[in-house]
Amino acid sequence: MNDSPARRPTWVIGNWKQHKLTAEANALADEVARRGSDHVRVGVAPTHLTLAGVATTIADRPVTVFGQTCGLHDTGAFTGDVGPQMLVDVGAGGVLLGHSERREMAHETSAKVAAKAALALGAGLHTVVCVGEPLDVREAGGHEKFVTSMLLESLDGFELNDASASRLVVAYEPVWAIGTGKTATATEAGAMHEALRVALDERFSACGARIPLLYGGSVKPANAAGLFAPPFVDGFLVGGAALDARSFMDIVSITAKAHRP
Ligand code: 13P
Repeated sequence: MNDSPARRPTWVIGNWKQHKLTAEANALADEVARRGSDHVRVGVAPTHLTLAGVATTIADRPVTVFGQTCGLHDTGAFTGDVGPQMLVDVGAGGVLLGHSERREMAHETSAKVAAKAALALGAGLHTVVCVGEPLDVREAGGHEKFVTSMLLESLDGFELNDASASRLVVAYEPVWAIGTGKTATATEAGAMHEALRVALDERFSACGARIPLLYGGSVKPANAAGLFAPPFVDGFLVGGAALDARSFMDIVSITAKAHRP
């Protein structure tokens, strides 16, 4: 296993979910982009409707705009869907895929996530594949096997090259920690990230070592330093705390300070 985090970028991405009307989204993005960070790649994921405005507001500033999902096709008779090329067209540089809320509400299976990931990487998007276990799986003790399998199924059927390896990101978000105020402990997060690191290295050989592994689930300024301490935690996917510029940028600063050169 390649344990050199220097090979992987550090990301902190705010997932705004179904929050923020146009003016609020633009204002929040502007505040985030105004502060920026040297050692951390910063991303924001507004709704599809506010994405173009956010991208215009922060054009040429070092913050990547992410879609929260995308469709299975670039174009076609798929009412309601938005293809990866369409995200690129309005200024997105990335996309989140397989968030547990999408898996639950929109029946986004791991097979669909894998197909979307291949398409999104092909479109040149930073592609964040999200995985995580529900509480009953964690309590029964089968979480590492469950999440590792979910990850491999969500990455099935495509290979990476130098360019696409630099755009793939994985986020571990235990379902029981999302929006609940409960977080995995640093030890729990570290153990899962180590298991996922091994799986990525096996799956993609040398390219696997370049894929950053983010943690998500009730990340806040108060717990960010502790959660970033395990060696295979390469950053955060932040929900609630990303809706306020100050708390989000505090998480970015804390992560930047602890950044491993
Ligand atoms: P919270 O930070 O609100 O728990 O949400 C995490 C999340 O789902 C990010 O994608």
